[in-house]
Amino acid sequence: MSTTDTPGLVPERPKLTVIGTGYLGATHAVAMASLGYDVLGVDVDQKKIDLLTSGEVPFFEPGLPELLKKVLATGKLRFTTSFDEAAEFGDVHFICVGTPQLHGSQAANLEYVESAFTELAKRITTPALLVGKSTVPVGTATRLTEMLLEASPNPELLQLAWNPEFLREGYAVQDTLRPDRLVFGVESEWAEQMLRAAFAPILEVGTPLVVADLKTAELVKVAANSFLATKISYINAMAEVCEVTGADVNLLASALSYDDRIGGRFLKPGLGFGGGCLPKDIRAFAFRAEELGVGQAVAFLHEVDAINNRRRMRTVDLVRELAGGDLRGKRIACLGAAFKPNSDDIRDAPALDVADMLRAESADVVVYDPEAMENAKRVYPQLTYADTFSQCIKGADVVVLLTEWDQFRSADPEMMGELVVGKSIVDGRHALDADAYRAAGWVYRALGRPADPKTVRLSEDAKDQVTV
Ligand code: UDX
Repeated sequence: MSTTDTPGLVPERPKLTVIGTGYLGATHAVAMASLGYDVLGVDVDQKKIDLLTSGEVPFFEPGLPELLKKVLATGKLRFTTSFDEAAEFGDVHFICVGTPQLHGSQAANLEYVESAFTELAKRITTPALLVGKSTVPVGTATRLTEMLLEASPNPELLQLAWNPEFLREGYAVQDTLRPDRLVFGVESEWAEQMLRAAFAPILEVGTPLVVADLKTAELVKVAANSFLATKISYINAMAEVCEVTGADVNLLASALSYDDRIGGRFLKPGLGFGGGCLPKDIRAFAFRAEELGVGQAVAFLHEVDAINNRRRMRTVDLVRELAGGDLRGKRIACLGAAFKPNSDDIRDAPALDVADMLRAESADVVVYDPEAMENAKRVYPQLTYADTFSQCIKGADVVVLLTEWDQFRSADPEMMGELVVGKSIVDGRHALDADAYRAAGWVYRALGRPADPKTVRLSEDAKDQVTV
């Protein structure tokens, strides 16, 4: 143990709690335990806690179940629903609860964050650092500090810090163990040292660290997600222009991507972004900026959102076109439900939105996804689901690729052609080999690409240049 200023010692290996065991929290808890920390995962949902305790991850995340089982066996990780136990156990508490879009508003719902912080503060009797990881509107940490001081019987023992998380679903384990960078939003030397101790193994391997004030740390996350969303909508806006001019957005994106200043990551055109982060984060950011009187500075985010939503409608237009102009009674095979591959997350999923719009036009819609079926059925019970890929496309008039799972990307167009009624496919993710489909007799269409196959030319290396 070493001593610093208030409010206490900095343990060499602080004991960690992780409050909230969703995609972010469960991964963080497991990853930190795998680095050798003693970790207690906390959630109000007994079912989740029971599952995790028995070694099962309540959602789909590659690599996480294996790592969970491994760390449970070491005794470094436990789970509980008890805030009393958490308050007693932890030196550093990571708050990882959700901040979903508020019902009927563009703002973020902060009730879970506020409750997690104050429930802990009420109970903590030893020096502790409370660290927010959830994505929140700038200024929230300052307000939470006041709430903590009010709620705590021992305010001199508590400090608050912000440590935004940038993990991508599908790559959550690797992003947590080997992040691009760490950001510590702190107000004291003690808080910085506590966080350095809590992330020692990650810092030791040279991970870049930005130590900032609370407000900057809060802003980093929304600024990063706004940038990523803007990049996707930018290329999708170009796709709109391509559609009316006959240019090809795939070739355009490739040509742009060779410019290092632009780069090919997140320049993949198509159906656009969804998920639990990008859509709600840009809306909450715009809302917060308006509250702060700087709405104009990020007014473009409304346009980013609008471009993104138009892609969904345009996908329906393309399917309708291939179905002969009228969707009524046409069997449409929808490949994918998750907001992206390697995830079972269907929050704001473009795929399900499109499937539901097709259904609303009286199409005979059948949906299949390798992992997200259960979630999809729960939230979209009005849709029809197939148990397998083959069942989904059997008898289809039009097939539409909505989530680019490997299973769909690697499917054989010849084999698929034998199952469908009409060999027409809309590639909503620019993920399929257009030439292979056309060679197998399919009508292949993708947003922002001309219908005329002769104009589609992409060299082999250019095919890998633009990525998600
Ligand atoms: C995102 C951020 O990437 C991550 O840093 C942050 O912590 C949480 O939000 P995630 O929501 O897991 O992560 O998904 P991401 O991989 O960013 O994809 C978001 C959406 O954009 C998906 O629907 C994806 O299909 C779409 N996308 C991505 C594109 O349409 N084109 C691209 O080029 C990239």
